[in-house]
Amino acid sequence: MKDAAASLANVYAPETFRVAGHQLIDQIADYLASVPTAVANPVQDPADLLAAYREVLANGTSPEMLFSKYLAESLHVHAPAYMGHQVNPPAPLTALCDLTNGIINGSTAIYEMGRTGAVMERIVIEQFAELLGLAPTTGGFMTNGGTLGNLTALLAARAAKWPAGDPWQAGNGDLRPCLFVNEQAHYCIDRAVKIMGWGTAGVVNIPSDDQFRIRTELLEPAIAEARARGLTPIAIVGSAGTTSTGSFDDLATLAAIAERQQLWFHVDGAHGAPVYLDPERRHLLAGMERADSLIMDFHKMQMTPGLTTGVFFRKGTDAYRTFHQQADYLLSFDTSEEDQYNIGRRTFECTKNMMSFRVYSLLACYGAEVFREYVVRVNAIGRQFARDIRLHPDFELALEPDCNIVCFRYRPAQSALSATELDDINAMIRAQLVTETSYYIVQTRLHQRVYLRCTFTNPFTEGEHTQEMLKHLTSMGKALLEFRKIPLL
Ligand SMILES: Cc1ncc(COP(=O)(O)O)c(C=O)c1O
Repeated sequence: MKDAAASLANVYAPETFRVAGHQLIDQIADYLASVPTAVANPVQDPADLLAAYREVLANGTSPEMLFSKYLAESLHVHAPAYMGHQVNPPAPLTALCDLTNGIINGSTAIYEMGRTGAVMERIVIEQFAELLGLAPTTGGFMTNGGTLGNLTALLAARAAKWPAGDPWQAGNGDLRPCLFVNEQAHYCIDRAVKIMGWGTAGVVNIPSDDQFRIRTELLEPAIAEARARGLTPIAIVGSAGTTSTGSFDDLATLAAIAERQQLWFHVDGAHGAPVYLDPERRHLLAGMERADSLIMDFHKMQMTPGLTTGVFFRKGTDAYRTFHQQADYLLSFDTSEEDQYNIGRRTFECTKNMMSFRVYSLLACYGAEVFREYVVRVNAIGRQFARDIRLHPDFELALEPDCNIVCFRYRPAQSALSATELDDINAMIRAQLVTETSYYIVQTRLHQRVYLRCTFTNPFTEGEHTQEMLKHLTSMGKALLEFRKIPLL
């Protein structure tokens, strides 16, 4: 039998780490230097990729080879040609925080286990509450993603607005609770409702207008109608912005309705809350400061790796309403100032990565201004791209973008195309673009029709990149029209 201690000493050897670590930092720095001209989406068939990674396992490898393979074959969010989903290129400094966290392996559930993370988390929440114009009473914590953040905030809404008793202990009983949300909201709101056991009736989807914003004039009639049907309204959820189009609900009107109807007001700002930092776009978030709870993903528009999500409560103590559990071995029922550092009482997670380090490091080493610069820059790219689309005879905008998400489609002015043909052609040219060129964009459906969708998260994407991407789409579209013998008008 192998000597386990000797074998493990090899796994943990500082000198082995030093060599592999220096190599890795060089590899990553080279990667970052080369990625501006990289193919964003080095496409591979999943079966081929699976086989390749099985082969590595079968043959063994070195850390250098492993990291090199991994870097080369992943989606490259640092490439300016990346214009796909709402995932930002993390600032390299934040990756160094993850490296350090990976060794320290602290957990912020209780102070003793993650003291540095706990204090940084408090500071990050305080700083961002101020940067986002939230009330001085604001408190909160960080969690693993917007999906979990929304669920956690809605659990607090449930506790706060439950008519009688404690649903945490007694369950939903005969009550039929519901919330109201833009039909365009992210699916995680629906998921949170189902997890809480409210069923399908628990989500009342309110239709959106032609800008995909919630039609606020339909909200109070819907609340009255739900009450008449025997449902118990608990919350209104505002989207800032929506996932598909980045549209911002009218938060001030939603806040006023929630106040009038005595409902909890939650804002899903996973993507768009940081848009508040852009002076030209700040107005889109008017009313956000009146939300009882708000979530924001730092990994979408604030330069951190996923998952890094802030959950903010206007009344900081509301954060303690979410989970009413006794766990004597870990958590006490103390609500004192001291207990603020034992974050596990308020979060879904027990062991939780000290994610605040990422945001804190940017604040500490670059200052808060860098967050604003990032948002202003990516919004400007979105606006410029929208202008280019508007002026292009072969494309049309789905709507004027509110931020860095732009939806558009290929619609050559001189061709007679049915709605279905347009859908097909747009889906096909997108597939071709992401497999045959360096560009990566995604698609969505708006009013049942296929649209191409860009989210500009890379601050180094320039007009030359977007213009070239459009050129590819145009020539692919033309070739398809010719192939299908679609007549010109
Ligand atoms: C508006 C909105 N809310 C929530 C989420 C889910 O966030 P996460 O992926 O961090 O769980 C997303 C993700 O795209 C989103 O766009």
